[in-house]
Amino acid sequence: MKKSELGLGTWQFGPSHGFWTEAAEETPQTLIRFALSHSIRHIDTAPAYGNGLSEQRIGSILASLPNRRELHIASKFMPKTVKTVRQDVEKSLGRLKTNYLDTLYLHWPSSSVPLKPLLEAALGLVGEGLVHSLGLCNTPLSLLKTLEDVPFNTLQIPCTLLWTRDLEELRNYTKQRSIKLVGYSPLGLGLLGGNHREKPKDQRSSFYVYDTAVYPHYLHLLDTIEDLASKKGCSPAQVALLWALNQEFSTILVGARSTAQLAQSIACSELTLDEQEKSVLDEMAGRLVSHAPASCDNLFGYRW
Ligand SMILES: NC(=O)c1ccc[n+]([C@@H]2O[C@H](COP(=O)([O-])OP(=O)(O)OC[C@H]3O[C@@H](n4cnc5c(N)ncnc54)[C@H](OP(=O)(O)O)[C@@H]3O)[C@@H](O)[C@H]2O)c1
Repeated sequence: MKKSELGLGTWQFGPSHGFWTEAAEETPQTLIRFALSHSIRHIDTAPAYGNGLSEQRIGSILASLPNRRELHIASKFMPKTVKTVRQDVEKSLGRLKTNYLDTLYLHWPSSSVPLKPLLEAALGLVGEGLVHSLGLCNTPLSLLKTLEDVPFNTLQIPCTLLWTRDLEELRNYTKQRSIKLVGYSPLGLGLLGGNHREKPKDQRSSFYVYDTAVYPHYLHLLDTIEDLASKKGCSPAQVALLWALNQEFSTILVGARSTAQLAQSIACSELTLDEQEKSVLDEMAGRLVSHAPASCDNLFGYRW
């Protein structure tokens, strides 16, 4: 099976909503340059990441690159009003110092805002060339079915051992319609990297994963990942990422707060999981599905 392409996630490039409040070891600019010098061409951002800081920091590099056309820059918009779709995209383009986005995603669906008019406004931007393609994030199957006449071509959803609910259904649905899948949080926002057996200091500590009733199941997953990693001579983060890279997504977005972390992710191109390792991890992920609260629509506990 072909592994997915690796893309750079940039949520970490600025604190937002209590996430990533601790300073990263290296600057975003250093991380972007490192990614580009190791052939990463897909960069994912959003206005919500650091309240514009992530886009600004990418823009500070983009403007000086001769080969913008070789990159895939994706950003997002939140569901507000038809008017704000254009306004928000124009602000993103200004911060990113580029005149187009390769993909514009609806960042989160909403059950209180009618989505079709917003998506039609976004398609208008495709018509004008400000955006090359439209994508949706975090959209459940029930909602996707109501949007079948909207010509979007990418769906961005979690691709992590921590959260596999509906993964198979979404994979089948998108495959049948030739919609590309882009996966996020392959390391479970770092929780699968092995450094956060104690709660992290930022908003990640509020994840249901740390609830006393379910935490032992997640510790069991971490133990399994660490055991596999030591047998393979790689890191736990690499095992978690390898699993994600084998899920038939077109791109897997990984975040990093140092070039050493990113180097490990990049080195996964040289590593493989065998069938037995894959099935051990699949089975563990499958068992965890029943421990995620039914009231959560996703890893973050949000409802749409
Ligand atoms: N569309 C959406 O709603 C949505 C939602 C989430 C994410 N995303 C996108 O997907 C990207 C990736 O997901 P993510 O950033 O949430 O999570 P992730 O890639 O699962 O985790 C990234 C974190 O893992 C830790 N890490 C990275 N490499 C490591 C290594 N080698 N060893 C140990 N720990 C390591 C770091 O955190 P520590 O240094 O703190 O350990 C890093 O910040 C985001 O940046 C964003 O672009 C999109």
